[in-house]
Amino acid sequence: MVRADMKTQPFKGRVVLVTGASGGIGRAAAKAYAAAGADVVLAARRLSQLEDAAREVASLGVRALPVRCDVTVGDDVARLVAETDAAFAGLDVLVNNAGQGLYGPLEDLGEAQLRQVFELNVFGLWRMTRAALPLLRKRRGSQVVNVSSVLGHRGLPMLGGYCASKAAVNAMTESLRAELAAEGIRVLLVSPGFTESDFRENRLHADGWRQDAIPLKAMSAEEVAAAMVRASRRGHRDTVLTLPGRVMVLANRWAPGLFDRVARRMTADSKKKGS
Ligand SMILES: NC(=O)c1ccc[n+]([C@@H]2O[C@H](COP(=O)([O-])OP(=O)(O)OC[C@H]3O[C@@H](n4cnc5c(N)ncnc54)[C@H](OP(=O)(O)O)[C@@H]3O)[C@@H](O)[C@H]2O)c1
Repeated sequence: MVRADMKTQPFKGRVVLVTGASGGIGRAAAKAYAAAGADVVLAARRLSQLEDAAREVASLGVRALPVRCDVTVGDDVARLVAETDAAFAGLDVLVNNAGQGLYGPLEDLGEAQLRQVFELNVFGLWRMTRAALPLLRKRRGSQVVNVSSVLGHRGLPMLGGYCASKAAVNAMTESLRAELAAEGIRVLLVSPGFTESDFRENRLHADGWRQDAIPLKAMSAEEVAAAMVRASRRGHRDTVLTLPGRVMVLANRWAPGLFDRVARRMTADSKKKGS
């Protein structure tokens, strides 16, 4: 009976904190960890969406704690960690998921736009992780799950600002993995490919640039969340999602010159819209 429980609810008694849990992949991840038995702390800026997501999580029979938090603000992050500790006296899994995209050639990006994306995707993740470490140290076998992107593994035209921010996430993940290994805290990387969510509506665009519809089949946020929970359960260090995403990462590793030619063709296909 206990064994059956462990199979269906491997995260029972564990506490998982998900940033960017008000929508998209983060919301799906909060539900997927809850379905696997975890109590969940949900963090994001939009409180009503967050409370809605928390109600869905709680309906799965676990505790849900929604906390309004902008991960680019130090005081918000400190309060999130304090509320998590007060409610659960520790943390088993931190999912650094909050993130934002940026579209346009490097030459045309606004400096403020590039800084905004780095402030969220890189500094937010670093700030959140640093603040959560004392709570992660209270639990055995705790984890940090960093959400990167297939675009963190290879720079593509029109996406250089975003690719650079996710490449920084990848490098920080590797460093942190080594730094925390002796304490038994695992650091995992999950790199989604093209996923259905509000990501493309929420991303920033260089002046006058817009992307045409992407001719790829998207994964659902729920499929990404299921893969994340599976990786988390097994302690998989590196999870690259979607078939085109995997092909890109491998092709770039084994034939980077060939992939440069593909990337050059993608640049030629991009056109400035409007202005
Ligand atoms: N969708 C894709 O195709 C795709 C592919 C590869 C990787 N990813 C990565 O997956 C992650 C989730 O993206 P998504 O597709 O779910 O995008 P999304 O639908 O735009 O969701 C982004 C989430 O981040 C939260 N967020 C934004 N700024 C925040 C801030 N300053 N502080 C706290 N939370 C903040 C948003 O909530 P609030 O607005 O309420 O704060 C929202 O919950 C991101 O790291 C993204 O880079 C996405």
